[in-house]
Amino acid sequence: MLRIAVQSKGRLYEDSMALLAEAGIKLSSGKRTLLVPSRNFPVEILFLRDDDIPDSVASGVADVGIVGLNELLEKAKKTREVKRLGFSKCRLSLAIPKDAVYKGLEWFSGKKIATSYPGILSAFLNEKGIKADIHVITGSVEIAPGIGLADAIFDIVSSGSTLISNQLREVEVVVDSEAVLVANENLTPEKNEILEELVFRIGAVQAADSKKYILMNVPKSQLEDVLAVLPGIKSPTVMPLANDEWCSVHTVLEEKYFWEIINKLKAAGAEGILVLDIEKMIL
Ligand code: PRP
Ligand code: ZN
Repeated sequence: MLRIAVQSKGRLYEDSMALLAEAGIKLSSGKRTLLVPSRNFPVEILFLRDDDIPDSVASGVADVGIVGLNELLEKAKKTREVKRLGFSKCRLSLAIPKDAVYKGLEWFSGKKIATSYPGILSAFLNEKGIKADIHVITGSVEIAPGIGLADAIFDIVSSGSTLISNQLREVEVVVDSEAVLVANENLTPEKNEILEELVFRIGAVQAADSKKYILMNVPKSQLEDVLAVLPGIKSPTVMPLANDEWCSVHTVLEEKYFWEIINKLKAAGAEGILVLDIEKMIL
């Protein structure tokens, strides 16, 4: 049994649970408790505050965890980073009142900076040789400058709307963060085996995420032209249709390429183009 720590609520919760579901891990239904076993895979989910996840994994209370790189770096606990997960992307940034004149990091010398990430901030300021006064607050950091508690903040920025509504401006990005899968450094062989299966499944979900399955009808006389437009396809599936002057072409594409080639496909004679989501892809 592998115990996975997941944030109980907040920015990581939903995406973490969705990822586990897409990886085929079903949880025992019923009331949601702190520790929920899966009914079809040898894992159990331990719901925690995100701040507590790095320590719980480092100490072995949980075997693995899904947590933001921001929390992981701040807590500086010894864990093994297994995989970047690509969701909950955000950055840890320095922000100042929007009308302040800013010419560079020197601005922060002697200033008071409010943050919930004193570890990352002090390491950054030390490295840059800036002496500032770090003021630790645990929530609503963004209101600190407005009420005169600090001159600037160092906090998570995602859409940027919190900064805007508090008349602040992002001036330095210090860390680019996203969700990561981390593991305890001393897992037993049995636990490692379960983790490997989990990582394999997550890889299949991730590989499928950016891809689309595309079907289209093509006049046989135009087949060469259409195949020439499809990027990097070694051997697309070409199937006969009832009307033997036409065929059906199936292929898998990066979604971003699809938008680049859709007009070329139409110009080459493709019709009835269908674009479908792919749930998993085993490479
Ligand atoms: C963070 C941060 C800001 C907000 C920024 O809080 O403290 O309040 O997100 O996001 P935005 O750029 O999209 O507006 P979070 O929601 O993680 O809650 P927490 O501060 O309670 O951890
Ligand atoms: Zn938080």
